[in-house]
Amino acid sequence: MYTQSMPREIPFLKSETGFPLLLAPIAGFTGLPLRTLCREYGADFVFTELTSTNAIYYGNKRTLPIIASAPEEHSRLSIQIFGHDLKTFDYAADFLTNRGGFAGIDLNLGCCVKKVLRAKSGCYLMQEPDHVQKIFRLLRPKIKGLFSCKIRLGYDDHNQNYLQIAGLAEDEGLDFVTLHARTRSQAFGGEIDYAAIAKAARELRIPVIGNGNVRDQESLSRIVSTGASGAMIGRAAIGNPFVFQSLKAGLSGKTYAPDRAEVLAVLLRQGEAMISFHGEQAAVRLMRKGLIPYLRGFAAAARFRERLARLENAGEFHEMCDDLRREL
Ligand SMILES: Cc1cc2nc3c(=O)[nH]c(=O)nc-3n(C[C@H](O)[C@H](O)[C@H](O)COP(=O)(O)O)c2cc1C
Repeated sequence: MYTQSMPREIPFLKSETGFPLLLAPIAGFTGLPLRTLCREYGADFVFTELTSTNAIYYGNKRTLPIIASAPEEHSRLSIQIFGHDLKTFDYAADFLTNRGGFAGIDLNLGCCVKKVLRAKSGCYLMQEPDHVQKIFRLLRPKIKGLFSCKIRLGYDDHNQNYLQIAGLAEDEGLDFVTLHARTRSQAFGGEIDYAAIAKAARELRIPVIGNGNVRDQESLSRIVSTGASGAMIGRAAIGNPFVFQSLKAGLSGKTYAPDRAEVLAVLLRQGEAMISFHGEQAAVRLMRKGLIPYLRGFAAAARFRERLARLENAGEFHEMCDDLRREL
């Protein structure tokens, strides 16, 4: 059992509503531009997209934009890593610690993408609790800030060992666990097992964050009722950073919904931030899918969605925003 003399502070647990809302790591979407907007609209904590420890180990420069962060988010950001070999975790933890610019490191134990599973990482590791324990033991003393992991219920229906893995996390001194309450075989569909979140929240002493299908007040209240310490929001935040403010308003008995002028202003800000952060060509590719939900509620949304999906350059993006302005 790992012990420490001073308990680490978990900044997001001090959310003004008493129930913190965290932005999930979402590969291809939660880069710095969306994270910045989500923070502005009330996300209490954010995560980078998953980052390969192998890529860090071999010095792959393409990982650098993924781990880039802004000073304003440092105290509320964890870098998410995935991998298998201990030597790559060892190297990545040192590399990230030397770079700094984040509050914590999150270990991905839930990814269900084939390429990640083939590399014996992500949710694959939930089948190897002994190896997971070795990773926890290796990383805990190296990570001075928050150390957390994100898990699923298990690899499939017959192997639901979330309590075992979360228990190891607690024993090895991790600060919190996020439970996406589906199995790897469910991927992103099917029911959320709220009873499992409640069970983990009851049995663990470290905070458990509930994740899965939170998109409105009703789905959020189902996570609140599990006794979890907070909720993590993924897909509902894509092209919709407002979701955090709406949900927080609801938690305080109020309502908030942006008008279309605000939505357009934020769409434009995210697009421009993506262009300056990723460069025009890469940004345009990411904008085609990452900005579509902003168009909901505009007249002729279908026509604008088509334009966005075929976006070729920054000029076309600005023309589209001008046309949207005429629809206000
Ligand atoms: C396109 C996509 C990419 C994702 N990338 C990651 C990732 O990088 N790391 C991770 O832990 N989970 C990832 N997830 C899972 C989400 O973080 C979250 O657990 C899942 O979508 C359920 O939450 P939601 O219903 O609020 O979206 C991804 C999900 C999707 C749909």
